[in-house]
Amino acid sequence: MTTRRNLLSAAAIGAVFAPSLLAAQTRPDGASGSPAPGQKRDTMSKIPTLKLNTGAEIPQLGFGTFAIKPPDAAAAVHTALTTGYRLIDTAKNYANEKEVGEGIARAGLPRGDLFVTTKLWIEDFGYDNAMRAFDASLSKLGLDYLDLYLLHWPVPMDFEPTVAAYKAVEKIKADGRARAIGVSNFKPDHLRNLLDRTSVVPAVNQIELNPLFNQAALREANARHGIVTESWSPIGGGKNVMHLLTNRQVGAIATKHGKTPVQVVLRWHLQHGLVAIPRSTNPKHIAENFDVFGFELAPADMAALDGLETGERGGPDPDTFDLAAFKELVAQRDKK
Ligand SMILES: NC(=O)c1ccc[n+]([C@@H]2O[C@H](COP(=O)([O-])OP(=O)(O)OC[C@H]3O[C@@H](n4cnc5c(N)ncnc54)[C@H](OP(=O)(O)O)[C@@H]3O)[C@@H](O)[C@H]2O)c1
Repeated sequence: MTTRRNLLSAAAIGAVFAPSLLAAQTRPDGASGSPAPGQKRDTMSKIPTLKLNTGAEIPQLGFGTFAIKPPDAAAAVHTALTTGYRLIDTAKNYANEKEVGEGIARAGLPRGDLFVTTKLWIEDFGYDNAMRAFDASLSKLGLDYLDLYLLHWPVPMDFEPTVAAYKAVEKIKADGRARAIGVSNFKPDHLRNLLDRTSVVPAVNQIELNPLFNQAALREANARHGIVTESWSPIGGGKNVMHLLTNRQVGAIATKHGKTPVQVVLRWHLQHGLVAIPRSTNPKHIAENFDVFGFELAPADMAALDGLETGERGGPDPDTFDLAAFKELVAQRDKK
C-alpha cells in the first residue's frame, strides 16, 4: 500500500512526474489479463505516460465520456479505442457505464493495454454505500478491476461521508480491485483534510482545467503531494470550447504549427505534465484530438496560452458542492 511517507520520497526523487513513452515499454507476455502495477502496456501506442504513486503508468491522453448519451456511448468508446486511445474515463453519474463497457468489449483489446477510470458519486458516500456502488460500477463496465477509482467530488460542508467513502476506496485498492485510487474536484484544503484522516495518498486529482482556467495553485498543491493532475473539460467543455476555438492567440499558434486550435490546447496540457481526457462523439474530432504527438509548442507559445487565464470556472465550485447544489445545476441546465 502506498503511504504518504513513501509517496513523498518518490516525489522527492522526481519519479512521480517523469513522462515516459508507452512505445518504450514492452509487455513481456504481450497477452490479455491483468498487469501488475507498473507492468508494461501496449507496445504500439505512442501516448506518453506519467508514473502514478502506485508505480503504474497513466496515459497522458484519454477519452472522456461525460454527457455521452447511452445509445451513443458504445460507438464513441469503440471509435476512440480503435483510433488509439487507451484511457477511458467514465462515472456512475454519467449513466453510461454499461454502454462504455460494451464499447470496451467490442474493441477486443487486451485488458492490460487499457486504463479504465470510473467515479464514485456523492449520493453513494459513506463506507457501505461506497462498497456497493463500486461493485455495481464494475459489473456495469463488465470488468474485474479498475485502473483508477475516483471520489467524484468532495462534499466539504458535510465531510464525514466523504472520508468514510475514501476509506472504503482504500479497502478496494488493498483488495486489488482498483489498481489506483484518487479524487476529483478536491481543492488544497479538501486534500489536506482527507490526507489528515486517511492513509493512501490519492494517485490522481481530476479537476476542471484548461487555458482559460489553468488552476496553477491547485496543480502545485497536487504536485507537492505527488498527485498527478488530470484535466477535465480540457478543451473548455460545453461552455468554453468555442472561446478557445475562436481565440486569436490560439489560432495564431495553431497556424504556425499547421495544427488546429484544439490540438494546440491538448498539446499545452501534455507539455504541462497533465493528463487530458477530451470528449467527442464525432469520429473526425476523436481522430483530430489524438493527433497531438508529432509537434512541440515553444516556451513562448506555452506562456501565451498560460496568459489566457480568466479566473472563471465553467463548472461548480467544489467548496459549495453537495447533492442539493448538483440538483439545482441539473434543473438550470434542463431549463435552457
Ligand atoms: N470529474 C469531473 O467532475 C468531471 C466534470 C466534467 C468532465 N469530466 C470528464 O472530462 C471529460 C472531458 O470534459 P468535457 O466533456 O466537459 O469537455 P471537453 O472534452 O473539454 O469538451 C467537449 C466538447 O468539445 C467538443 N469537441 C471535442 N473535440 C473537438 C474538436 N476537435 N473540435 C471542435 N469541438 C470539439 C465536443 O463536441 P463533439 O462531440 O461534437 O466533438 C464537446 O462538445 C468528460 O467527458 C469527463 O470524462 C469530469
